[in-house]
Amino acid sequence: MALRLGDEAPNFTADTTAGTINFHEWLGNSWGILFSHPKDFTPVCTTELGYMARIADDFKKRNVKVLAVSVDPLESHTGWVKDINETQSCTVSYPLIADPDRKVATLYDMIHPNAIDNMTVRSVFVIGPDKKVKLMLTYPASCGRNFDELLRVIDSLQLTANFKVATPVNWKDGQDCIITPAVNDDEAKKLFPKGFKSVKPYLRYTPQPNK
Ligand code: BEZ
Repeated sequence: MALRLGDEAPNFTADTTAGTINFHEWLGNSWGILFSHPKDFTPVCTTELGYMARIADDFKKRNVKVLAVSVDPLESHTGWVKDINETQSCTVSYPLIADPDRKVATLYDMIHPNAIDNMTVRSVFVIGPDKKVKLMLTYPASCGRNFDELLRVIDSLQLTANFKVATPVNWKDGQDCIITPAVNDDEAKKLFPKGFKSVKPYLRYTPQPNK
């Protein structure tokens, strides 16, 4: 059955460019990003993995571990990583899962046969420290993802987890957040010492709590 938000992220053990990984053990208490790329030695994927390598520290700072997967074998990944490092001016230091038997791709429903039948689509799963799926994205192979957007959604998810706020349309780090309807005004006064602005009883803004 397809995964849904709030489901436990399926565990697996897999060979990666950094050795064998048991996913849940490897995550430990961190957040995680599991993202698929359709095929090794392809242009869009090369730019995506290179960019992810260049901003890997931004994920680390947020306590997020990064793990890539494709259905190609380990020897192929190893050769391709050299090309990525050379062409994208980076050092790929996060692991790439080799998934030639499609174990991980199947667990995470990453093969969409009506789009492409012999490789994965571009899936992203953000997983919380409780091992629950917090966010999913699915892009076709032709469309490279926006990895800066992944940092933005991580910031939003972590604000919700730590401070019980939501984030409005096109929110960016530093901008006001939204107090959810589940928090009444009396609770909001205690939870948000910087105060809040009520535009409507259901539309209340508070300064970003961790700034
Ligand atoms: C690419 O990464 O460029 C790509 C991979 C599979 C299908 C289409 C494009």
